[in-house]
Amino acid sequence: PESAARTASGALAIGGIPAPALHAAYGTPLYVVDEDEVRGRAARIRDAFAAAFAPLGVATHVYYAGKAFLSIEVAHWMREAGLNLDVCSGGELAVAEEAGFDPRRLGFHGNNKSLAEIDHAVGLGVGAIVLDSVVEIDRVAQAATRHGRVQKVRLRLNSGVHASTHEYLATAREDQKFGIPLSEAADAVALIRAHESLEFLGLHSHIGSQIFESAGFAEAIRRLLALHAELLAGGEVPELNLGGGFGIAYTSADEVTPIERIAADFAVAVESGCAHHGIPVPAIAIEPGRIIVGPAGVTLYEVGTIKDVRVDESATRRYVSVDGGMSDNLRTALYRADYTARVANRVSDADAALVRVAGKHCESGDIVVRDDYLPGDVRPGDLLAVAATGAYCWSLASNYNYLGRPAVVAVRDGKSRVLIRRENTHDLLRRDSGYSSGADQVE
Ligand code: LLP
Repeated sequence: PESAARTASGALAIGGIPAPALHAAYGTPLYVVDEDEVRGRAARIRDAFAAAFAPLGVATHVYYAGKAFLSIEVAHWMREAGLNLDVCSGGELAVAEEAGFDPRRLGFHGNNKSLAEIDHAVGLGVGAIVLDSVVEIDRVAQAATRHGRVQKVRLRLNSGVHASTHEYLATAREDQKFGIPLSEAADAVALIRAHESLEFLGLHSHIGSQIFESAGFAEAIRRLLALHAELLAGGEVPELNLGGGFGIAYTSADEVTPIERIAADFAVAVESGCAHHGIPVPAIAIEPGRIIVGPAGVTLYEVGTIKDVRVDESATRRYVSVDGGMSDNLRTALYRADYTARVANRVSDADAALVRVAGKHCESGDIVVRDDYLPGDVRPGDLLAVAATGAYCWSLASNYNYLGRPAVVAVRDGKSRVLIRRENTHDLLRRDSGYSSGADQVE
């Protein structure tokens, strides 16, 4: 986080609170979220897009992609920053409801929404359901008819744009499950328009995640606007939703384009596309997740075992094992993501040594930081801080090996509070029908 700074004694402080104090109060592993930074990043992307599109005379709507990290408080922060909220499951929708989020400001995604999820979302009055397939058109239309509502919908397209990112993070290549191909879109929109219980808001495209360059976005905008223009012959198309995917820096090797620059590039692409087709500029929606919460989060771990492992005749590798791992940060194992680690409880004059930070799981792929330099005297009991873990870490967390998921703590102005508490042994066992202390009654 931007607020990370060393105290006089050399400890790393986040939001004004030294890491050892956080460790003492909450234990480790611990997700620490800088509240002001999350709020600030939400406001910044909101303002960047508003400013870039103001000259075109259109509104911009920012939907925070809750999949990156969602809690009831975070939903409040987003509402207070004037953002909408994008959810992609009944569970995420439940968080939004519990936060009292205005349903009209919710977007609902998913390539395989259940009938129950659709029914619930329609009944609640969710502002926009993003249709991901032709079969969903009928499903949503029927739910809307049942509830006596007109449901606003978007249509998610697979634009075929190849964004340069990890294969698992790219979502608009031809061979993947999301959206419908451009070639089938006009027929799908005609189907939507044929339903009185549906109102067509516009097209949607999300080309992938952790993207640094505007070129892929610009190409998607070009392709979508061509279709958007064609659809205007059959009725109104008030909006265009361009998804999320804005990259953040995980290590110093990542060069991030300022969001103001990206917003300006979006505006240029939209303006020139609309001019080319001679059509009015639609309102623009985006769905950023990672860029809002990612850099604002850090994970604290305690160092346990350290081993120097001989990897061949000439080389050894130092494994520094911490008290969490792939259960709290799956990204290293799943995407070969890079992170940085810093000793958080002290500074050291010792020469730096290349290490691998591993977790405590029974799996050799259980790596938190593949390669980074730590002081040569790093020792058991030291605290490590791994930066940029605010997005897709808690939300991808698991109970592998029966580890409880860590707490999430918000820090601000030298104060901390729990957003989500740590899971304890009781949490881990209560769903087991054999649990002697009283299993939950099965519903
Ligand atoms: N909109 C849609 C339709 C999405 O599928 C996603 C992310 C977003 C918005 C937000 O994308 P963002 O701005 O956060 O990049 N678990 C992976 C990332 C998966 C992204 C899934 N969809 C990771 O840890 O990198």
